[in-house]
Amino acid sequence: MIVTTGGRTDQQTIMHARSLSKKYNSPYIDRSKQSIYRLKKRYQQDIITVSRNGIAIHPLAQEESITFHPSMAMVRAKRILNGETDPFTETAGLASGMSVLDCTMGLAADSIIASLAAGPDGRVTALEADPLLHLLAAEGLQTFTATNRTINEAMRRIKTMNAEHHEFLAAEPEDSYDIVYFDPMFSEAIDNANAIRNIHQQTNQSELRMETINEARRVARRRVVLKDHWKSTKFNELGFIQLKRKSSRFHYGYIDVQY
Ligand SMILES: C[S@@+](CC[C@H](N)C(=O)[O-])C[C@H]1O[C@@H](n2cnc3c(N)ncnc32)[C@H](O)[C@@H]1O
Repeated sequence: MIVTTGGRTDQQTIMHARSLSKKYNSPYIDRSKQSIYRLKKRYQQDIITVSRNGIAIHPLAQEESITFHPSMAMVRAKRILNGETDPFTETAGLASGMSVLDCTMGLAADSIIASLAAGPDGRVTALEADPLLHLLAAEGLQTFTATNRTINEAMRRIKTMNAEHHEFLAAEPEDSYDIVYFDPMFSEAIDNANAIRNIHQQTNQSELRMETINEARRVARRRVVLKDHWKSTKFNELGFIQLKRKSSRFHYGYIDVQY
């Protein structure tokens, strides 16, 4: 991947782009009025643009660019702050002070909710296999400013890593996190408008394997949680108790590791 600036730029933005290029070990190039199409054609790489409005990623494999906006997480976060329940935190049994390993960060909506529920005394680590999506979410979590301070603090506390979850889990000691969470890409088609649809081509679409769940059970102290399509056979195949939710396209399931 290469880093450049948006079309119209200034000295501060150039400095930001240069520092990002160092941080992520990716070359910086002068934009020099070249179009994204032209840059992709010339370098055959994913492009990251930095502008005053923030960062956008332009994957080589798709025409649309992607920016970080935790819109759905904001709606859920506000519900939690109003004392309402969230099916993810409920399934996980997530409470203040707990530690969570989110094995499939994506654009970090669930990580934000986990961080909010775990609170300042908790700990959320989020893994994303794709370097480009990882960069977008990692930077977005540090810089996106919501109107609510508690949500901003929850975003800033999340520790992100560009890592493949099976390898990561295999290297972790046992009982390292209260909750280990998976939200792999659905194998069923998703027909609704959805943030994930925008990033679909960019994501790691490997299937969740029993070996990985076994590692997750070893690393989790309390629960392993899976989100998947309501029709998914994975809940059953991988030993999860599926919690059915009428009229919801996706369900959560869990394995209690204490028993
Ligand atoms: C459905 S999305 C997760 C969405 C996320 N829960 C959210 O709230 O935004 C799945 C993400 O997991 C990533 N992923 C898939 N397999 C992975 C693996 N083996 N290791 C790490 N990340 C993985 C994909 O690249 C994708 O970004």
